[in-house]
Amino acid sequence: MNWHTRYLQQAAWTRDLRNYLFDQAGLTNASRVLEVGCGTGAILHEIKSAAPSHGLDYEIDSLSICRIHAPAALLTHGDAHFLPYPNGSFDIVYCHFLLLWVRDPLQVLREMARVGRCVLAFAEPDYSQRVDEPAELKKLGKWQLDALIRQGADPSFGSRLAETFYQAGIQLIETGSIQNAEKKRSADEWENEWAVIQADLEGAVPGEEIQEMRILDENARSNGERVLHVPTYFAWGKS
Ligand SMILES: C[S@@+](CC[C@H](N)C(=O)[O-])C[C@H]1O[C@@H](n2cnc3c(N)ncnc32)[C@H](O)[C@@H]1O
Repeated sequence: MNWHTRYLQQAAWTRDLRNYLFDQAGLTNASRVLEVGCGTGAILHEIKSAAPSHGLDYEIDSLSICRIHAPAALLTHGDAHFLPYPNGSFDIVYCHFLLLWVRDPLQVLREMARVGRCVLAFAEPDYSQRVDEPAELKKLGKWQLDALIRQGADPSFGSRLAETFYQAGIQLIETGSIQNAEKKRSADEWENEWAVIQADLEGAVPGEEIQEMRILDENARSNGERVLHVPTYFAWGKS
């Protein structure tokens, strides 16, 4: 599984929203910007700012790949729960598909608010509200939900995002769900979606059952009946 390809796909879903929110938060005039959980650099390499861009992640391997995609970024190996920066170091601190993966999202948001003036969380899904159509594909959603739990994620965190901003003492300015995540997927994107499904379900669901779902999925797509929607939330505010 090439995770960078997946992260690029997710980055495309949120591009319009990110441009809008970065504009609201004043990215053009920012002098220091940080991505917490920057992964392989799918977002970091797109940042259009004269300011130095910083990235932090706790996976050394991801940071090595990030160095290739975002060579100008200043990268730090660290844990989002204990950000290694003094108070108020950044104008903007943001994350993208991070909080569902951390042990304590409230602590991470408190840390982001401590080190930054504006805090942006661009995309946090709620897989418990996932919609699969036709109905026989709902099993796939349940398998993936279980797989995320096995991998240590909180797959329903997204719908608690705004409430967690509030608990972290961040003055909420705007929150909502991402509309353009619904754009029609290309054949390549479906291929990539299936690579993720195979990786998630390997060893947990028999190969022939996965294959059966894949055939149902392909038939539904060719009949124009396929719906796959994972509500995904954003929020931004000031510390
Ligand atoms: C789904 S990836 C998203 C990467 C990137 N933000 C993007 O959207 O392309 C989540 C990233 O968060 C990182 N991560 C998870 N928990 C973390 C923690 N406690 N501290 C730092 N990074 C963490 C993972 O290593 C991974 O790179």
